[in-house]
Amino acid sequence: MNNIKIAPTVLHPVIPNNSYVYIETYGCQMNVNDSEVVVSILRNHGYGYTEKADEADIILINTCSIRDNAEQRIWGRLREFAAYKKQKPSLIIGVIGCMAERLKEQLIEKDKLVDIVVGPDGYRSLPELVKNAESGQKGVNVLLSREETYAEISPVRLDKNGVTAFVSIMRGCNNMCSYCVVPYTRGAERSRDSHTIIEEIKELMAQGYKEVTLLGQNVNSYFHKDENLNFAQLMKKVAELSPELRVRFATSHPKDLSDELIDVMAAYPNICKSIHLPAQSGSTRMLQLMNRKYTREWYLERIGAIKKRIPGCSISTDIIAGFCTETEEDHQQTLSLMREVGYEFAYMFKYSERPNTKAARTMQDDVDDETKTRRLTEIINLQNTLSLESNKRDVGKTFQVLVEGVSKRNPEELFGRTSHNKVVVFPRQSFKPGDYADITIESCSSATLIGK
Ligand code: SAH
Ligand code: SF4
Ligand code: F3S
Repeated sequence: MNNIKIAPTVLHPVIPNNSYVYIETYGCQMNVNDSEVVVSILRNHGYGYTEKADEADIILINTCSIRDNAEQRIWGRLREFAAYKKQKPSLIIGVIGCMAERLKEQLIEKDKLVDIVVGPDGYRSLPELVKNAESGQKGVNVLLSREETYAEISPVRLDKNGVTAFVSIMRGCNNMCSYCVVPYTRGAERSRDSHTIIEEIKELMAQGYKEVTLLGQNVNSYFHKDENLNFAQLMKKVAELSPELRVRFATSHPKDLSDELIDVMAAYPNICKSIHLPAQSGSTRMLQLMNRKYTREWYLERIGAIKKRIPGCSISTDIIAGFCTETEEDHQQTLSLMREVGYEFAYMFKYSERPNTKAARTMQDDVDDETKTRRLTEIINLQNTLSLESNKRDVGKTFQVLVEGVSKRNPEELFGRTSHNKVVVFPRQSFKPGDYADITIESCSSATLIGK
């Protein structure tokens, strides 16, 4: 979860419309990147940007529908903005992103609180909808597109540390995992043309950025038809821009993790040795119900291929606890898969039924909440142990760390990441953000390596 903040004066010395937008972002990194596209589109139409909601003329919430608790939190926030609107009736409130897509007109009709509702493919229409809203006309654009990639729009970097940046390379998802709302909120998969991707990265490099993460719901199914270019080939192109540029990607679907991609990762030192490969469950029966299109054995074979060709590659995952009909035995298989892979890191969730998904339509959400909570706790405890063990193995070793900024806890310390995506905290010395520093690890916690 991110609240995006930057001083408006930095970005907008002259605001022709004398109108400022505040944007609050929830959900995944793709949403964070989309907010940057939205600010860019509005800026090109003369709107300024403010980091203060109470100074804004337009408040946008970029929303997430992935789990019920994500939506509940956003409803709460909307009610807070309603209070602002009572004091300032000219205030325009817009809901954009995945909840806008899922709930559509409902948002405008219910509570009469929202003026604008725009889905993830409709951001180019925002300036027009805002203009109409300024004259009292409410507006909705929740059309999904088969082409929109915002390819040529240069995002305004809002949470900039000036060192690491995210670049969206594809949108949507065709996978139809039975529990997941994303294919409905984001529409069909489409890939951005590689020239605009490369241009955006070159621009970032010129501004001093040292690391890019290529983003998509399913990046490794990237394929640009006209260019006949797949994800491994795109990665190669990006890695070859400069040995000084670190390259990461997220998220990969196990079924599309090709040997070609593993070989490209192995061949380029500047491609980070870390893969986020969500398993969701360790039970083949669950994976089938989830429509993940692989088995436990198949997944482990892919992990074997990674470990063989990229020794020491760090592997992280997403896990869902308590999906429909999950038994104790299924749950134990998830725990055993986690041990067998030895994940460095994991995002772990309780299953949350999403309206209209295949699971909601055809299966019963029959694992009670207490059991889900207990299983999730076991999963989290195990992951903490695995992370700590992995970090302990790094003590005494030296890693190249890309310095990202000053540690929040101690201004005399800096933090950065290893190629394996582990956070390292170390004494400032003469390093500054953007530097590569060779740091020897002295101690660790389950979340952080501590260096000298
Ligand atoms: N496209 C990525 C990530 C999708 S959303 C992928 O397929 O890996 C991020 C994570 O949220 C998913 O990996 C999954 O673990 C979790 N998630 C998605 N839908 C969920 C649901 N209905 N309940 C609980 N967790 C869910
Ligand atoms: Fe959702 Fe599955 Fe697509 Fe990921 S791959 S976004 S979990 S449908
Ligand atoms: Fe949430 Fe939409 Fe991302 S549902 S996780 S914001 S794609």
